[in-house]
Amino acid sequence: MQNSLWLAGIEKLTLNKLSTSLNCDVCIVGGGLTGIYTAYLLAKKGVNVVLLEGNSSVGIATTGHSTGKLTPQHDAVFSKLLGAFSEDEARIYYDANVSAIEAALQNASIDLYQKVDSYVFATTEQGKKTLDDEAEAYKTLKIPGYETLETELPFDVLSSINLPNTFQIHPTNFALHYAKLAIKEGANLYVNSRVTKVAIDEKAVYVDDDLQVSFNHLVLATHYPIEAVKGLQLAKLSVERSYLTATKTSEMLKGQYISVDTPSRTIRTALINNQPYFIYGGSSHKAGTIEDTQSYYEVLQNEVVSKFDLSKPEFLWSAQDPDTADSLPYVGPITENEPNVYIATGYRKWGLSNSLVAGEIITSAILKEPHPASDIYNPARNQFGSTMLRMLNLIGFTVANLADGYITRLDAPKCTHLGCRTRWNDGDETWDCPCHGSRFDKFGNVIEGPAVYPLDLKS
Ligand code: FES
Repeated sequence: MQNSLWLAGIEKLTLNKLSTSLNCDVCIVGGGLTGIYTAYLLAKKGVNVVLLEGNSSVGIATTGHSTGKLTPQHDAVFSKLLGAFSEDEARIYYDANVSAIEAALQNASIDLYQKVDSYVFATTEQGKKTLDDEAEAYKTLKIPGYETLETELPFDVLSSINLPNTFQIHPTNFALHYAKLAIKEGANLYVNSRVTKVAIDEKAVYVDDDLQVSFNHLVLATHYPIEAVKGLQLAKLSVERSYLTATKTSEMLKGQYISVDTPSRTIRTALINNQPYFIYGGSSHKAGTIEDTQSYYEVLQNEVVSKFDLSKPEFLWSAQDPDTADSLPYVGPITENEPNVYIATGYRKWGLSNSLVAGEIITSAILKEPHPASDIYNPARNQFGSTMLRMLNLIGFTVANLADGYITRLDAPKCTHLGCRTRWNDGDETWDCPCHGSRFDKFGNVIEGPAVYPLDLKS
């Protein structure tokens, strides 16, 4: 089993398991940064909030497997957005991320974050073309980045764009900090409390099938929404898996980097107990479709040694990210008919700053206050052409993999979400579902939804 650098020696936050049924104004399902930050913002406004996390701690699942980059530079997203949205809408996305980051850092002590420059770079001609378009988009949107060939990287780049004054964090410690603030403001956080049923008509969720939490508003902050079928997110989200490594190094970088080449590479450093670590990752594929994931780690490990002259990484972990067809997350009411049920998903590998934006949007909606980014993040937005194409592809893929899909692996257990065949992931020692990204440990326990029940490994 692989190990995230962020989970090594973290401070423990002791939280209880839900032991009795209860009522609340807002029930949040999921204890990653989205759920925690939303709980904090709502509790600060005096709202009665209950947060339910299925794992043994908050901030350790998706958040604890991220890169820890807190930046509005989301690879080459702005040229993509200008292809699908207006200039005003693309600028709103940038502004929303900048202001959400600034607001969240105001309540975080200086030891919880570092100011760095963010670079997106290319080492191939194809990547350079992508960055030429991205540099134009920066000019159009008046984003304060600039092109440069000077980086700290030990190889030449053909192009790069530096966006100064961005941040990096220890994602789990940052989430735990906000969990403590949320509790201080009166939010009730529970761990080991897995929601197994969402009964929207009853305005209740069920934990472990018997305890009931009744709500006025429900926030599904589970990364991949467990009630996704309602808003057809099942057919709109594709899930990508990518890989990360960390190894001891002697000095910290002043920047954090991501390439737009194929395969992409992400680079940053982190100081853990006064020891600098070099974090290097990349290479993504559709989640649940690759059995030999160990080879992805091996490629990264070899590059750390050969390109950066460091020793073989001691931390290896992978991350999973739902992606939307138009590159913007889905944050807001799950359908227009269920305005009191909210989702936050589709962060496309940029979940830390988007978690903070999501917390603000959902809090504003519940408090009936406007938020400048609520329309562009609305899950009901209509990007008809690209979204329909995505839906047809994903529905076709799911149908092909239901129950008896993987003919060569009929011995693989069926996913407890909708019955697709899972695949064994040898690098992480998990059962991964190719249809909507559910993951299970080697004993069949749920690591990541939308599935909520463990695998039956005996049948
Ligand atoms: Fe939907 Fe497995 S995650 S069938």
